[in-house]
Order: sequence, then structure tokens, then C-alpha cells
Amino acid sequence: MSSITVVTGSNQGLGFEAVRKLARQANGHTIMTSRNATRGQEALGKVQNEFPEASVEVMELDLDSDASQEAFVKAIEEKHGKVSCLVNNAGVGYAPTSDVPVKDQTSQTFSTNVFQTIKFTDRMLPLLNKDANPRIVVLASTLSQTAFASLSSEAQKRITTEDLTTTDVLAFAKDYVKAVAEDKAKQEGFAENAEATSYMMSKLCDVQFARTYAREHPNIIVNSCCPGWCVTAMGQKAGNPPRSSEEGAEVMAFLATADLDGTSGEFWYDNKVLPAFTVSA
Ligand SMILES: NC(=O)c1ccc[n+]([C@@H]2O[C@H](COP(=O)([O-])OP(=O)(O)OC[C@H]3O[C@@H](n4cnc5c(N)ncnc54)[C@H](OP(=O)(O)O)[C@@H]3O)[C@@H](O)[C@H]2O)c1
Repeated sequence: MSSITVVTGSNQGLGFEAVRKLARQANGHTIMTSRNATRGQEALGKVQNEFPEASVEVMELDLDSDASQEAFVKAIEEKHGKVSCLVNNAGVGYAPTSDVPVKDQTSQTFSTNVFQTIKFTDRMLPLLNKDANPRIVVLASTLSQTAFASLSSEAQKRITTEDLTTTDVLAFAKDYVKAVAEDKAKQEGFAENAEATSYMMSKLCDVQFARTYAREHPNIIVNSCCPGWCVTAMGQKAGNPPRSSEEGAEVMAFLATADLDGTSGEFWYDNKVLPAFTVSA
């Protein structure tokens, strides 16, 4: 049976570009996902026009909805019976000028980028375990390094401890969202300027989630990556990105398809492993 890759949030941006790369490589079957059926069909049409031979389909998935996640997993189970590679790409980030209150930004950002992404990965686990060589790619960001540097050394130790588990990452994330909601971010060892850090903090949790998940599931190659600052709807909220989304998607296709010689749990940039976070003195 050929490989089956799911790329979440692939109706636009980096997810869409990653699907184009997989279609160009004729890499098995690709399942695009979109939370909006019309946008999903439009994106699928573009891929099919460009790569008429590619094996690709689109399915609806709203990460924020447990019912949508469950329906998605059930449909794949019935239709394909397994998943070879899950690219956790879907995510949100607010513009620095957004007038959404920072507490709401933080809870929405963490809901989609961390809590629902991890829940979705757990739901996909039985399907991944049915593949002989499963993989997970998690879209993170080098902004996670900025978030890490903004933490107290206690908080740094907490999120990098040697025996860190996914449950610990979730607890850390929940404590951060709670601290922001209660105006206690600084007091609890997080950055004072919470509005500048919620997206970065979500990506720090994503990097550490990939590390813990890799340890907890040694049969799965799990890695996180930063695509660089790219021209996408999200990227352009912060200014004029220097990279095209096509360049940014390179590392996603690499981690989904290249021979990684068993490398798992690492954080990648430009197809190279970045050093792990180190606690400041
Ligand atoms: N662009 C950059 O410079 C950059 C840098 C580092 C990391 N990243 C990461 O790369 C990933 C992709 O970002 P992008 O720049 O391509 O952003 P984008 O163009 O805004 O695309 C984000 C995708 O995620 C989908 N999405 C958002 N919330 C969702 C939800 N609740 N359920 C399902 N799908 C959802 C969006 O759907 P809709 O079209 O319906 O909104 C869209 O398809 C993100 O994880 C982001 O954090 C981006």
C-alpha cells in the first residue's frame, strides 16, 4: 500500500505549498485539509490542474472542533485504514496590531496551535501506528527561541527537563494561558509582555511536544521545523517576509519524505537540526 500523508490547513500558505511539493514528487497519496469546504475544493482544483497525475484529495477538518476531528479520523480509517505521515501545519497567529484582547489571543492561539493539535495527534495515533514507518512533522518557529529566552530560569528548566513528557508540556501550556488570563505572567516566570509572546510561546510548546512525542512513540519519526519568515496570510501580518512560501515549505517536504536516518525529536531549520534549548545561568 502506498504512503498516505495528511497536511492540515493546506488550503493556503505553507500547507498548500507543501502539498504542491508532495504532488510534484508523486509521493504516494496526499490528503489536504481545510476547515472551509469551498476554500478546500478551490485549493484541490489548483493542485489537480498543475499536477493532473497526482493522487490528492481534500477533506474538511476544523482543529478547534472535537466533533470535526473525530469525523475526520473516522473517515480516514474507513477509506484508507492508515496514515503514514501527519504534517501538523494548521495554526493561527495574530497581527501585532490586532485589537483582539491579549487574553483572548492567547487562549485562541494555544487552543489551535497546542491543545487541539496535540489532541488531534493523539486521535491520529492508531492510524499512524498502522503504517510500517510513520512520521509526524510539527510546524514550529525559531520564535520559540525568543520565547524561551524570555522565561525565568525556573520556567526554562521546567520546559526542558530531561524526563519531560507530553503531559508536562500540556501542563506548562495551561499554566501559561492561566497566568496570562490572571495578569500573573511575570509573577509565574513568563515574559511580562504577554502580548508579544503568546504565538512564540505556543511554538515553544510545539517544539517540546515534538521532542516528548518522539520519546514516547519510538516507532514514529517526529520532528518540528521552522520554515523561516514566509509570505503567507499569517507571515504578512507581521510585515514583509523575506521568504516565499514555496521556499518555506522545503523543510516540510524534506521532513515528510527524506531519509532522516532515524533522526527523531529534533527541531529543524533549512534542513538542518538546531541545538536544543539551554537553560541560562
Ligand atoms: N508564515 C510564516 O512566516 C511562518 C513562520 C514560522 C512558522 N509558521 C507556521 O506555519 C504554519 C502555517 O502557517 P502559514 O504561514 O501558512 O499560515 P496561513 O497562510 O494563515 O495558513 C494557516 C492554515 O491553517 C488553517 N487553520 C487555522 N486555524 C485552523 C483550525 N482551527 N482548524 C483547521 N485549520 C486551521 C488555515 O485555514 P483558513 O484558510 O481557513 O484560515 C490555513 O489553511 C503555522 O503553524 C505557522 O505557525 C509560519
